[in-house]
Amino acid sequence: MSFQSISPQDLYHAVNTLKAGGLLGLPTETVYGLAADASNEKAIQKIFLAKGRPSDHPLIVHLAHLTQLADWACANNTPAYAFRLAERFWPGPMTLILPKQSHVLDIITGGQPTVGLRIPNHPIAHAVLTAFGGGLAAPSANLFGHISPTSAQHVKQSLGDRVDWIIDGGPCTIGIESTIIDCTQAQPRLLRPGMITPNIIKETTGLTLNQENKATPRVSGALASHYAPRTPTHLVTTIEIDQAENAVVLSHRQPTIRKAGVRWLAMPNTAQAYAHALYQKLHEADELRHEQILIEGVPSDPEWQGIRDRLMKASADKLSK
Ligand code: TXA
Ligand code: MG
Repeated sequence: MSFQSISPQDLYHAVNTLKAGGLLGLPTETVYGLAADASNEKAIQKIFLAKGRPSDHPLIVHLAHLTQLADWACANNTPAYAFRLAERFWPGPMTLILPKQSHVLDIITGGQPTVGLRIPNHPIAHAVLTAFGGGLAAPSANLFGHISPTSAQHVKQSLGDRVDWIIDGGPCTIGIESTIIDCTQAQPRLLRPGMITPNIIKETTGLTLNQENKATPRVSGALASHYAPRTPTHLVTTIEIDQAENAVVLSHRQPTIRKAGVRWLAMPNTAQAYAHALYQKLHEADELRHEQILIEGVPSDPEWQGIRDRLMKASADKLSK
């Protein structure tokens, strides 16, 4: 079976599941989504129930083509820069927050006048979205607050039979969630960093993002503790890694000394490869059930921004959640 294509039977089954108001585990290039018909309120309610997600956290609507944009966003109130971003980065790992069309359900938007839209760049997601024809609401396919899934196995472990069917599209290429950009003000604003960085956006479109950290609870990833393993997880320095006892270590170095009780998981050196591996390694580390997970700090270069954000959230104190 190829992970990059879907058989006609599977496509038929996927569309039927969605049309019947069911939940589908859908591979995308960022993370697996828990997809449901964005125009079916009952189906969307099932997403919140399955994830244990608070109802005021809005969902991203996924589309197949730019031609569907006007079905969901109100083009009259959409600033010109949003179209430039859409043209340059869709299909791809970017979500735009746009003024919504009046029919978009409150349960999707959290009652806000905006809607989050994304055209994913994954052949299976694209085939399903095209065959389905409408929008698919899809948060990451994990229990609320836990590590996002980057394989079909992760979805199964996290949600079990709360999801009607999972399409196995192999490991996600990008590995962390999309960059979210608020397009409702005169200047685009970064809400959630990802692998499409403000630098890349500046270089390719000339647009400067507002990066003021005015996080609202509307962006669920903005809660301090999120994307977190069950094992206590800490972001630490090289020295602390070398002094570790009874821990799983995520480091881009080789261990200086081997110690019983310390399990070393090697991480890649480039931002792209690190992002691709991150959630897989966190899942692995969590499964090992050690006392703690210690993650060695990563470079402060701009292309690591999305990764640093996820590491901070994976290691934030659960009490501040
Ligand atoms: O890469 C991704 O974005 C993945 C894949 C499946 O597409 N999806 C994902 O969804 O990460 P989720 O639900 O885990 O995160 C969506 C984020 C949340 O932080 C939510 O608050 C924010 O998008 N969001 C959605 N609609 C919004 C809106 N109208 N205004 C502000 N934030 C919004
Ligand atoms: Mg999520």
